[in-house]
Amino acid sequence: MQPPVLVTRRLAPGVAERLGDLATVHDSEQPLPRAELLRAVHGRTAVITTLDDTVDAEFLDAAGPALRIVANHAVGTHNIDQAACAARGVHVSNTPGVLTGATADMAWALLLAAARRLGEGERLLRSGTPWAWAPTFMLGQELAGTPLGILGMGRIGRAVARRATGFDMPVSYHNRTRLPESEEQGATWRPLDDLLAESGILVVTCPFTAATRHLLNAERIARLPRGAVLVSMTAGVVDEAALAAALENGHLFAAAVDNFEREPRVDPALLAQERAVLAPHLGSATVRTRQAMGDLAVDNVLAVLDGKDPVTPLG
Ligand code: DGY
Repeated sequence: MQPPVLVTRRLAPGVAERLGDLATVHDSEQPLPRAELLRAVHGRTAVITTLDDTVDAEFLDAAGPALRIVANHAVGTHNIDQAACAARGVHVSNTPGVLTGATADMAWALLLAAARRLGEGERLLRSGTPWAWAPTFMLGQELAGTPLGILGMGRIGRAVARRATGFDMPVSYHNRTRLPESEEQGATWRPLDDLLAESGILVVTCPFTAATRHLLNAERIARLPRGAVLVSMTAGVVDEAALAAALENGHLFAAAVDNFEREPRVDPALLAQERAVLAPHLGSATVRTRQAMGDLAVDNVLAVLDGKDPVTPLG
């Protein structure tokens, strides 16, 4: 008999081992091709998925009626049709909280790299191009006093805001609803258009949903002040073609992107921009955080196999 749990990707060391004989693990850093995924999920009670695994009606049909939980190894859930899962009584869980600090750290790493032109500098040295220190050489943007805008003040946005105090930056944010003052981390709520117009540096941390897809289109990117820096930590919210165009025409000083809408594809127009710092989806990529994400996904599966609710359910 096949094990009741499918794990669709290699997990951090020791994590999948907690499931022992209960699990079949696709022990690879590459996603399962769709046809293999649909075959592998058949008859399972639980599946640990990543953002690359689309969980839709086809997936749920392929799994069959035994499926009780889809435990996403991510805080994001745009790969999952939650309504289709609910209609079949399948629990959905994600991994909130445990990746907040690592992702906020990466937002700051990218922000600093973009504002201070680290990617360009590194490429210049490695290319062997002659260079010399000069008063006007490779000048970046100063952070102190620059208004920092945060689009999406969830856990990660709030952690980005907390880190701003050390850089002496005034912080504003936009969420659909204003947070209670005790959760604002000293930041000021602004309507979206005002936030855009006032942010010298904007960090995007809101979730990718049908409502936020391409929220930052060409028109909204153009509302940022000329010379602004845009940092995107969520795939799909920033229109990548529009971002490349805003770098190309000089409206933006620089940009940094950690997640892409059609990973692993990166828009060639963006790849062509010297002032774009591009990271291969590294937000939560630390040893400790990936261990914690894996453990939480396993905890969710074990809870449901034990007849309980998931520890971190969605919806
Ligand atoms: C998430 O958890 O949604 C991240 O994108 C994975 O790093």
